[in-house]
Amino acid sequence: MDLEKLVSAAKAARDNAYVPYSHFAVGAALVADDGQIYTGCNVENASFGLTNCAERTAIFQMIANGAKKIVAMAVIAEGDRPVSPCGACRQVMAEFSESDTPVMLATIQGQTMETTIGQLLPYAFDKGDFHEHA
Ligand code: THU
Repeated sequence: MDLEKLVSAAKAARDNAYVPYSHFAVGAALVADDGQIYTGCNVENASFGLTNCAERTAIFQMIANGAKKIVAMAVIAEGDRPVSPCGACRQVMAEFSESDTPVMLATIQGQTMETTIGQLLPYAFDKGDFHEHA
């Protein structure tokens, strides 16, 4: 999958961000194991803590449509450096990917940075830890 194509899809999804409080619009796009692209934007709420980030919106779209795994993902926002996914999103990304799954972080100004989920969240807590101690 062409990561540039994913960045374009993330940019288009960003246009739908619902951000009346932060005015910080974020878009995300991923290609899943079914070959489809799923996208997401951040969705804020007057009760701030209920905000859903763009990354989790895209991942939940993937799951709701029956796909199981992230093959590659892109995230985009406006800024001086590529947007950095929050800790909660990193944990959710790790749940549905491999540590070497590529992630492209981008700005609408044109900067990009390619990384992996394993680099974003090393030593992630996962279902292996859970089963061992349950
Ligand atoms: N946000 C995302 O959607 N993804 C990120 O990677 C960083 C933060 C959103 C949450 C909130 O709507 C706004 O950006 C400001 O924190």
